[in-house]
Amino acid sequence: MPVQDLEKIFQQKIDEEIKIEPKDWMPDAYRKTNLRQISQHAHSEVVGMLPEGNWITRAPSLKRKLILLAKVQDEGGHGLYLYSAAETLGMSREEMINDLHSGKAKYSSIFNYPTLTWADIGAIGWLVDGAAIMNQVMLTRTSYGAYARAMVRICKEESFHQRQGFEILLVLSRGSKEQKEMCQDAINRWWWPSLMMFGPKDSESTNSDQSMKWKIKRKSNDELRQNFIDMIAEQIKTLGMKLPDDKLKWNEERKHYDFGEINWDEFWQVVKGNGPCNKQRLDARREAWENGEWVRDAAAAYAKKRAARQKDKAA
Ligand SMILES: [Fe+2]
Ligand SMILES: [Fe+2]
Repeated sequence: MPVQDLEKIFQQKIDEEIKIEPKDWMPDAYRKTNLRQISQHAHSEVVGMLPEGNWITRAPSLKRKLILLAKVQDEGGHGLYLYSAAETLGMSREEMINDLHSGKAKYSSIFNYPTLTWADIGAIGWLVDGAAIMNQVMLTRTSYGAYARAMVRICKEESFHQRQGFEILLVLSRGSKEQKEMCQDAINRWWWPSLMMFGPKDSESTNSDQSMKWKIKRKSNDELRQNFIDMIAEQIKTLGMKLPDDKLKWNEERKHYDFGEINWDEFWQVVKGNGPCNKQRLDARREAWENGEWVRDAAAAYAKKRAARQKDKAA
C-alpha cells in the first residue's frame, strides 16, 4: 500500500479515537515522538525517586516512613510500566538507560532541585505530583494504546501521592511556629519549579501542533498550567499559607487566576544541566546501575538455566 494511503488510515483511526497499537503502521515521526516522550517520562519516574528517597531514613515517624516508602516504590513501578510501554516502539531498555546515563536523554527538570527539609516531601507530593497528575490524566486518553493504558493505573497511584503530600503540609501548617515557617518555605521553593513542569509557553513550544493532531497531547502547556494554578490557588486556602506570587489574583472575566511571570532563564538553565542537583542525580543513577550489575547477571543466568531445564523436560 502506498505511504499516503497508510497515513490516511492512520490519521482516520486517530480521528475516530481508535488506539494505535505496536504492530500497526505508524509514521516514523509518531513513533519517535512517542518513544522520546514515554522514555523521558520513565526516566523522570525513576530519577524522581532520588530526592524523596533522601528522606526515607529521616521521616519523622514510623507511619510517615511507611507511607513514603510506599510512594517511592510506586514511582519505581511507574518507571517500569513506562519502560515496557516504550520498548513496544522498538528500543531496548538498556539503550534507553544508557541514553539517560550519558546525558543524551532528558528527565523532568523538577528533580534537579534539592529536598532541604521534611516539608519538601509534603510540597513535592502536593505540587509536583499534583502537576504531574494534570498532565497524566490527559495522557490516559493519548492515542498510543500502551502509553494510555499504563497511565490509567499510574493516575490512581498519583492521586494518593498528592493527598499524602497535602496532608503532610496540613499537619505542619497547624503545628508550631517553626513548623509553619518550614511549610511556607517549602511552598516558596517548589511553587515556581512546579509551574515550569508544564513546559515552555505555547507560543514557544515547537512540536505542539503535530502532537495535538496525533492526539498524543490533548491540552496545551498553557492550558494545563492554568488548570493547575486554579486548583492550587484554592487548595492553599485550607493550609492558610501563601503562594509566592504577588500577581496571583482571581480574574472574574477570564474565570481563571492571573499569575506572575515565570523565570524562563532558570528553566532553560536547569534543562541544560545547570540545575542545583543535575550532576548528583545522574551520578546516583549511574552508581545504582553499576551496583546492580550482579543482580542483572544473576537473574539472566538463572533464566537461562531454567529455560535449559524446561527444554530438557520437554525433550
Ligand atoms: Fe509517578
Ligand atoms: Fe507520584
